[in-house]
Amino acid sequence: MGEKEKILIIDDELAPRESIRMVLKDYYSVSTAEGGHEGLEYMSSNPIDLVVMDIKMPRMDGITALREIKLRHPDTEVILLTAYASLETARDAIRFGAFDYLTKPFDKDDVLMVVQKGLNKRKGNSVLKLERDKLLDRTSYLEDQVSEARKNIISFREGTVRALIQTIDAKDSYTYNHSSRVANLSCALARAMDISSKAVREIEHAASIHDIGKIGIEESILKKNGPLTDAEFDLIKKHPSIGARIVESVPSLEDAIPVILHHHERYDGQGYPSGIRGENIPLSARIIVVADAVDAMMRDRPYRKSLPINQVYSELRSNSGTQFDPDVVDIILCGRVPLAVC
Ligand SMILES: [Fe+2]
Repeated sequence: MGEKEKILIIDDELAPRESIRMVLKDYYSVSTAEGGHEGLEYMSSNPIDLVVMDIKMPRMDGITALREIKLRHPDTEVILLTAYASLETARDAIRFGAFDYLTKPFDKDDVLMVVQKGLNKRKGNSVLKLERDKLLDRTSYLEDQVSEARKNIISFREGTVRALIQTIDAKDSYTYNHSSRVANLSCALARAMDISSKAVREIEHAASIHDIGKIGIEESILKKNGPLTDAEFDLIKKHPSIGARIVESVPSLEDAIPVILHHHERYDGQGYPSGIRGENIPLSARIIVVADAVDAMMRDRPYRKSLPINQVYSELRSNSGTQFDPDVVDIILCGRVPLAVC
């Protein structure tokens, strides 16, 4: 047999207070208080399952006491006693959280039945609360697991990008330095386009490995000190597809595949390997095309000198809408991203 449930009777009149106590005392642990203040004071140090309380009391009336009880002890059920069972009073009582009300003079069986119903509700609420707490614990555990998994994926992804960057460096240090400058400029352009920070990070990673396919191209062609023959250029043109195939085997880098594959497409559809045009080219690739060209123009190559900055701006302007996405070019032409960034 468990501990008896605890009931507090609050009534300023001795007779009804005692008569309810007599009805309940054999079944429950019953305490009494002469008013709202005394009842609340008692409850502050004694947990109570259910309160039976008169509505009409001097000093603190039953509705005020009810609101205070529900505020301080929301799980405690309250049954109100009223000598005048007006609908208005009952509505008030229920609206402020009372479980039910009893009318004076009350019938013993009614009292027992309403009190037991109130206690059953409290028990049901406790079980529900326990289940809810368990679910919240479980949810919080799962959220921690998801967050940990996400961190691992990001760390794995960054490690893979670093490894690929080092592979490029080992093969061709020009491509390595070029890729890192293209990543910086692409990142600045992406930020200026007001896209999510996650997408900006993805573009930066993809830009830093956009030429990874060059590890599949012969060094004699890659480092040739002079213009390429048509046949050599045909081989160079394979590097986007080779790069996409390399990255295909790394699931956490799948968003870099379209960038790697399409970073030599042109806005007018005259690029390679697919010849897609306009907004059919992924935005990330359209950004990198511009960053890639800017960096190529601004650096000395064995077979030509870098272009003066004015000429870089002029090339961007004259190829906007043909080679380049005009929206990306405008970010540079309007000065929102200074070319000093690369
Ligand atoms: Fe490339």
